[in-house]
Amino acid sequence: MYLNPNIQNTPRVFPKQGRAAYHCYDANENAEGLPLDFVEEVKKEITPEFLARYPEPDHFLKKYANYIGVDFENVYGTNGSDHGIRVLLETFGEPGKEVVTVSPTFEIYWVCCSLLGLVHKPVMYNRDFTISVQQILDTITSNTRIVVLLNPNSPIGNLYSDEEVGKVVARAKEVGAIVILDEAYHYFYEKTFLKFALENDNVLLLRTFSKLMSIAGCRLGVVVGSSQLVHYVKNSRLAYEMNVVGLLFAERLLEHPEIIQHLIEKEKAGKNFLMKQLAEQGYWFMDCHGNYVLLRPKHDAHQIAKRLEEEKRVLVHAYGNELMKDLLRVTVGSEESMNFFINALLDVDK
Ligand SMILES: Cc1ncc(COP(=O)(O)O)c(C=O)c1O
Repeated sequence: MYLNPNIQNTPRVFPKQGRAAYHCYDANENAEGLPLDFVEEVKKEITPEFLARYPEPDHFLKKYANYIGVDFENVYGTNGSDHGIRVLLETFGEPGKEVVTVSPTFEIYWVCCSLLGLVHKPVMYNRDFTISVQQILDTITSNTRIVVLLNPNSPIGNLYSDEEVGKVVARAKEVGAIVILDEAYHYFYEKTFLKFALENDNVLLLRTFSKLMSIAGCRLGVVVGSSQLVHYVKNSRLAYEMNVVGLLFAERLLEHPEIIQHLIEKEKAGKNFLMKQLAEQGYWFMDCHGNYVLLRPKHDAHQIAKRLEEEKRVLVHAYGNELMKDLLRVTVGSEESMNFFINALLDVDK
């Protein structure tokens, strides 16, 4: 039997199952979800015939393109943006050549590098959680095929300026590399680098419906870029990659910008509440600009995460890497949800 050695040798840790039985602050979804009356209304459109038909994404893609102010030719949808990441790395990565990311960052990037035989070149954060853009620039060489920037990054939520992104895009262009700008946390953080994707023929932007849009279970991501690059991305697709339920909810959601605004405001209030409580209780924390906050518990972070899970049925994200081993990443929700979290934390971290 032939077994692809890249697939055989990639170490994998899959997400926890059974999370419905927990209060989830660990995966940066909007765990509280969309308003119930909206969900009930959309559900009425889901009939046996609707589920029986293969998905036709173009109607949604046209609406989405219009929503963000680009043309249909500039967008394509994927089965979650993690699928988008794989597609971009497959399309623009060259086996044996390099992909530059910061580290730590969203781990699917190095996982996909490993699965696809691409060489991951991580640029490490400094001890004070800053990242050197100069070091990112210096790491881009003639061997680089892809450079990845998340804005904000996750788990460490630093931001980039227009000038910094401009320099990275220009340097990548010099060596013939693509730049992926991952905006999974857009809407929590308003600024966008969309114009870089439209004005350059080496930049692709990623968005997802899993975070503010609150339908992580429906798996829908979007790739945005020049029509030429999007054409290449589409060339790699299977016949059907998105699903009818995700496309339906996403489309109806775009028809209700007031719901999107409500979600933004609810999360903002929740984050402000959480940060005020953490400050009052003397915690070190970092606003990561997305729907997550890093905090340093007063006792061992892994013990606190374990006690939260076992005693309070609360899930948070703890880390093994040296830089973050004493931190927890906590997903932000409504004020009510943050009140529940802070009470649980204070109980186990006395
Ligand atoms: C930065 C970033 N990009 C992409 C994703 C993937 O999102 P999804 O595959 O649910 O669309 C995540 C999820 O946590 C993320 O943090």
